[in-house]
Amino acid sequence: MNLKALDLFSMNEGLQKVVKGIDAITVAKKFLVRGFNVSPEAARLVSSFQDPELLISEICKISKNKFIICEEDVITVIKNLEKKVSQRLESKVAELKEEKIRILKDVNNSVVEGTIEDFVAYFNSRFEKLSGILRGRVQQTRIKDIGRFRGETINVVGVVSNVFNRKDNVLIELEDQTGVVNCIAMGKAAEVAKELLGDEVIAVTGTLKGSSIIVDRIVFPDCPINGEKKSIDFGIVFISDTHFGSKGFLKEKWKNFVDWLNMESKNEEMNKIAEKVKYLIVAGDIVDGVGIYPEQEKELVLIDIYEQYELAASHFDEIRKDIQIIISPGNHDAVRQAEPQPSLPKEISKIFSGNVKSVGNPSLLELEGLKILIYHGRSLDDIVTKIPRISYENPHKAMEELLKRRHLSPLYGGKSPIAPAKEDHLVIEEIPDVLHSGHVHTYGVGFYRGVFLVNSSTWQAQTGFQKKINLNPMPCNVAVYFGDGIYRINFNGG
Ligand SMILES: [Fe+2]
Repeated sequence: MNLKALDLFSMNEGLQKVVKGIDAITVAKKFLVRGFNVSPEAARLVSSFQDPELLISEICKISKNKFIICEEDVITVIKNLEKKVSQRLESKVAELKEEKIRILKDVNNSVVEGTIEDFVAYFNSRFEKLSGILRGRVQQTRIKDIGRFRGETINVVGVVSNVFNRKDNVLIELEDQTGVVNCIAMGKAAEVAKELLGDEVIAVTGTLKGSSIIVDRIVFPDCPINGEKKSIDFGIVFISDTHFGSKGFLKEKWKNFVDWLNMESKNEEMNKIAEKVKYLIVAGDIVDGVGIYPEQEKELVLIDIYEQYELAASHFDEIRKDIQIIISPGNHDAVRQAEPQPSLPKEISKIFSGNVKSVGNPSLLELEGLKILIYHGRSLDDIVTKIPRISYENPHKAMEELLKRRHLSPLYGGKSPIAPAKEDHLVIEEIPDVLHSGHVHTYGVGFYRGVFLVNSSTWQAQTGFQKKINLNPMPCNVAVYFGDGIYRINFNGG
């Protein structure tokens, strides 16, 4: 019995003001008054308890049809009280943590009906937000007015509606709310134009020739150089793609990871790093899901989605409770596939303990002053497919392209489905200190204009599908971030 815990329980309840010790006979009388008989052993056990009055009243609550209260009944109630105490303490810890976590932007209120009007509104929102950023940097001329500036250098801000790679140049079709113009990029500008994905908002600087603009320069919304590196006195661990429920889940390596987080590693230096960890962020694909791809059931140990989340919760439960865990969904999780994805529904999030907080995909959080943008990373497939110099081996390079475009999924209708909500929630309006993704199951970190980029690998071995597309995952790599320093810990034995 945990008397210390019970002391706390009593204090929390305001019942510890005066606790008098009473003997077994008095206990028996108190039960009798309430209409219960009690065995001598049970009475003695109750009398030895720190707060017998509380215990008697709890026993009576659950013993309505009992003829005699025996020792087992008392033990059961004591255990229940202990459980309540530990739950209360857990939620108290979670409450205290919560104050230090601010959700600056979540997508739970993103309503989608999918009408043509929604689609138009979505693109207007994207254009407004991103052209606003560009207008701060270039003097914009509307496409319908460009004829008035023949011979002069003009800047046009628009959505890239098409890109055509031609023999000697690249043709960009640029569209704003007043019209469409062809922009011809040659030389250096053509090299930049070749990497356009389509649907991003850019500015083109050039001169009008005939009805086309000859491009001097392509300007991306990009982010200003963030000179201010925040120093933090705690560590944040970034992981993703745990895929609980999959046959490929790397259970042994996960155990090593948890042992390390719990400061039970054999390496003292490693334990010292773990001691400072306050947050664990998981960027999606918490579970492997059900029906995500054909014949997936052959690769699952659990074919029930709830059981998969119960397994996930039990694994997160192994982690010491002073670490706040933040989970956001990915394309394998039990929320809509189209981005932005809301946080896990209540019936699932309640499976997790109080120190696990569920947020949407994407989400912008502030942890003790540090801004962290979490995005699962489905659009990274588009970047790797469209830009030949970028590969899955360097996922953070693909993440740079998102920051450059100030959009988490620039290509509409590519590999990442987008829900055309009235507002484009995937625009990166506020520059984070950290951008955290997963999805591609490889590991990569880097800084881009002062923003720390981390793609945090996976806890799943190579799948049959990944084998087919020649994707070699880098499982069990963990990034531990301390603001000015980053550790990479490989639990895969590499
Ligand atoms: Fe994944």
